[in-house]
Amino acid sequence: KTYTDYFFDKTAFNTLDGGYIPLKVNKDAPAQPLAIPALHPADSEDADHVEYTVTAKAGEVQMLPGKPTKTWGYDANVLGQTIVFKEGQHVTIHLKNDLPELTTFHWHGLNVPGPYVDGGCHAPVYPGETKDIEFTVKQPAATLWLHAHPCPETAVQVYKGLAAMVLVRDAQEEKLPLPRNYGVDDIPVILQDRHFNRQNQWDYEADYDPDGVQGPTAVINGTVNPYFDVTTTRVRLRILDGANRREWRLHFGDDHEFAQVASDGGILPGPVYFTHLMLTCAERAEVVVDFSNYAVGDTVTLYTDDTPLLAFRIKAKNDNGHGELPEKLVDIPRLVPNPDLPIHKVIMSGMDEEVMLDGKKFDMQRIDSTQELGATQIWEIANTNDMTGGMIHPFHVHGGQFQIISRNGHAPYPNELGWKDTVGVNPREKVRIAMRFDFAGVFMYHCHILEHEDGGMMAQIEVIDPSKPRPKYKLMDHHTL
Ligand code: C2O
Ligand code: CU
Ligand code: CU
Repeated sequence: KTYTDYFFDKTAFNTLDGGYIPLKVNKDAPAQPLAIPALHPADSEDADHVEYTVTAKAGEVQMLPGKPTKTWGYDANVLGQTIVFKEGQHVTIHLKNDLPELTTFHWHGLNVPGPYVDGGCHAPVYPGETKDIEFTVKQPAATLWLHAHPCPETAVQVYKGLAAMVLVRDAQEEKLPLPRNYGVDDIPVILQDRHFNRQNQWDYEADYDPDGVQGPTAVINGTVNPYFDVTTTRVRLRILDGANRREWRLHFGDDHEFAQVASDGGILPGPVYFTHLMLTCAERAEVVVDFSNYAVGDTVTLYTDDTPLLAFRIKAKNDNGHGELPEKLVDIPRLVPNPDLPIHKVIMSGMDEEVMLDGKKFDMQRIDSTQELGATQIWEIANTNDMTGGMIHPFHVHGGQFQIISRNGHAPYPNELGWKDTVGVNPREKVRIAMRFDFAGVFMYHCHILEHEDGGMMAQIEVIDPSKPRPKYKLMDHHTL
């Protein structure tokens, strides 16, 4: 079966927003090869321990002819080097801030203790400072990401470029017949959109919109008008919606079919075949595209709505497999919610400055809910926006991966049967998820439209280990920033 549907509520697509900024091909820039972020070298590595230094710094990139664009990145001018973790490995990371202001290093989707290792708003690294974190990688192979998360400056810092891909590899994924030659047939695709001003700069304040900053130019891995030279019969794309607000409705120009093989938190139970795929902010999809039926010299272009994003130029057809993938990829044990626990209800409401979570604005000093370590609880996330004029709010929880149980009592979308950390919730919808935390700590949960989270559509949960005395967490507030 091939799905040709975006599934999400059409009346809530961002194209219908009052403030929607359509994407346009940027005619100032020539076609350029898609930048492939370098793999992050380790400071040292042995079988079970690896050490990295990750530096947030300012840089500049020649994105358009004329002036270079001033950007921020992690060990890179923009975005960051791709960090690869191995399941089971013990990791030490030196977090270094070479920026002129405070930042945090949030490991989106990584299963680590909160709130300091997790790197949300309570884990500031001040300018000139280096802080160390340590954790053990305890989750299946996945495409995760690192981004800045100081409150309320997440949106502006990510907009300037603080976002990088993080991959987890494991033995199970390694056995699957999937492309995994990084940069050749396994490539990151970080989707963002920006407005370049007349000096070729990104001016966040000038383009501010409380419903999410957008720009008319798609910038993919930091490249404007990118192409990718395909040299193999199949290519695996690790797609991340790294935009502040934009949804991406992906399809090839000729509606070529592709297989989604992984969602946010890992490989899906089986491949799901699509011609059209929609991602909301912070969601990831790994897809395998079989180009074997094209001829050398052909170009196949990936679009969002009617705008071309990324041209795949068929240069060679080295055989790395083709045809259908195995029907079964991995076993995912279903989380079984504890029937004695109440349903944890979460309400996302409003738009613009009115956005709230559970009727409140985020308060860094307030713990909004608690859950016991290791217990599985049902969360029900409601979006109270209207069917007409409302929007899809992508809901994200720190501190672990969840499973989607239902959407308004119906089955989740066919590509939502694996691990997720972000789920787009349609207007008037209630999405039920099964949530379990494997680490204690304070974790944030919020809408991942970055201006909504900065605008207060966010709360935090304390995960309590009943076998230990309750720790005193040092919670920042806006003033101690
Ligand atoms: Cu992508 Cu609070 O995170
Ligand atoms: Cu996160
Ligand atoms: Cu929102």
